Amino acid sequence: MKSLKKKIEIAIIGGTGLEPLIKNAEAIQVGTPYGIPPRILVGTLHERQVAFLPRHGASHTVPPHRVNYRANIYALHQLGVQRIIATNAVGAINRDLKPGNLVVPHDFIDFTKLRPTTFYENAPVTHVDMSQPYCPEIRASLIKAAEQSGVDIWEKGVLVCTEGPRLETQAEIEMFRRLGVDVVGMTSVPEVVLARELEICYAPLCFVTNMAAGMQKRLTTSEVRKTAKKAYPVLQKLLRETVKNLPIKRNCLCPHALEHARF
Ligand code: HPA
Repeated sequence: MKSLKKKIEIAIIGGTGLEPLIKNAEAIQVGTPYGIPPRILVGTLHERQVAFLPRHGASHTVPPHRVNYRANIYALHQLGVQRIIATNAVGAINRDLKPGNLVVPHDFIDFTKLRPTTFYENAPVTHVDMSQPYCPEIRASLIKAAEQSGVDIWEKGVLVCTEGPRLETQAEIEMFRRLGVDVVGMTSVPEVVLARELEICYAPLCFVTNMAAGMQKRLTTSEVRKTAKKAYPVLQKLLRETVKNLPIKRNCLCPHALEHARF
């Protein structure tokens, strides 16, 4: 296969609609011990081999609680991917944020309930460190890309991941706000955890599609979709610049995540 001759070190996981980012793309189907992920586009971006995985399937048919996160991350691992940049639609809990804003979270709180969150169900008993869950090197590259492009970006933020697919109640959002949460989404966990378990760097680029429950009259998917669509050109620009900015060699601790994680 032509495009698989070169190493694929970087992957983008995102929503349907970001595919045009990848040039000379070829769609490949990868099998994993955890099931079959959506077809992965492999091609070039800034002269680097990049994979694009549409998290919800090619036609957005898989809801967030049914995404096969293990198959997705394992498939990228099998392709040799060492870094994942994820895009996530989020609702704003922090009142200073507005729809259309971009956020590079530095931490998360996990409020998912039903998802398999580990590759290590059995021995070796493995506890990966989550003191710094998102790769600092990718985060720095995302922030630098925004600076270079003259795009405003929130350089820090706490993300809460909920189970979905329902949206949150007002009381839940108020609770999250009191816990110090800035944005709410349904897809960052367990992606970030599974990537760390395979020593893959991972960082999210979040775009605010709405104010969270209780902060605007009502939430509609058409609003989320409309705002997401508007964000796509700037997301594409930032992703392009970020891939350009990433150093060839990884200088973070992510590649050593398993060194002190085992009993
Ligand atoms: N809640 C959860 N997930 C979301 C939201 C929200 O308000 N907006 C976009 N993804």
